[in-house]
Amino acid sequence: MPDQPNVAVVGAGVVGITVAKLLQDQLKDVKITILADKFTDDTTSHIAAGIYRPGTSFKGPTKEITKKWLKDSWEFFQDILKTPDAERIGVMPIGTYIFSSENYHVTRNHLIEDIVPLYRAVTDEELKLAPKGTKFGSYFSTLKLECGNYLPWTEKIIVERGGQLLNKKVKSFKSLSNYDLVFNCSGLGARYLCNDHDLVPIRGQVIKVKAPWVKHAMYGDYDTYIIPGLNGVVTLGGVRGYDSYNLNYCKYDAAAIMERCCEFLPSLKNAEVLAHKVGLRPHRLPVRVEPELIEGVKVVHCYGHGGYGVMTAPGTAMNAVDLGIDFLRSNVRNKL
Ligand code: BEZ
Repeated sequence: MPDQPNVAVVGAGVVGITVAKLLQDQLKDVKITILADKFTDDTTSHIAAGIYRPGTSFKGPTKEITKKWLKDSWEFFQDILKTPDAERIGVMPIGTYIFSSENYHVTRNHLIEDIVPLYRAVTDEELKLAPKGTKFGSYFSTLKLECGNYLPWTEKIIVERGGQLLNKKVKSFKSLSNYDLVFNCSGLGARYLCNDHDLVPIRGQVIKVKAPWVKHAMYGDYDTYIIPGLNGVVTLGGVRGYDSYNLNYCKYDAAAIMERCCEFLPSLKNAEVLAHKVGLRPHRLPVRVEPELIEGVKVVHCYGHGGYGVMTAPGTAMNAVDLGIDFLRSNVRNKL
């Protein structure tokens, strides 16, 4: 391995930023450059509510790896929660209800029931929190990550340690042949960068409202969710537009989201609307975390997390960093 490896990270969403920090934690002399055309507030990560609750279809290459990513991520956040800086970093505990009018199975989650400390059926009293006719519900204790805090906090550490943030759209891996190793954390950008047609956008739209009285997260049928965050800001969602590249705000989506969320919590009618946000979730089954030698450049891919990038970034980043260090040490020819 070179004495001072020169490493590029493509992408500055939650995955790229976490990979960069974890690599610095492991290799003190590494020189890191993060290359991206969107930073901090402009990333898809910043739109997401960031709750630790993967969809049950979330998957890595094997069940064991999927589980490890989820467990490692949970422990990463738990370690932060134990510190006095948790809120400043953007990690907060949150109790969550998931209700369904018809389908018991959507209230269960085999991926996290043995990771979170509490996952139980709701009581009859709690069932009344949901709209009339709701038959099933679960309550679980989980956490969420505010990327509005986490990204700048982590970027600051990366820069203090000598890392660089560069506003640049990467068009090919060949253009990065001066680096010893490249992490591809480009999210949906990987569709073009790797010509990966398994990577599909799932359009999302949310409303950010000020509603400090909302204390629990709530999920209902039809992609309905209410997720409180720091400073009384609550994320209301949502929609899932498969293979849609539409980044425009849609007033019909906004009206439907508001109507569905108000069915759960009528008091949301009085909430001040702070912003409407639209983003494209980079969906791929399985999520891709693997090394590849591309035109002589050592690349470790870490993309395709769909709507679950914020909660699974730490576990997948740990995996990617391990693969990257092995790759740096390997004798695979760096330049053809
Ligand atoms: C969501 O999780 O709802 C979401 C994530 C990214 C962009 C838009 C919505």
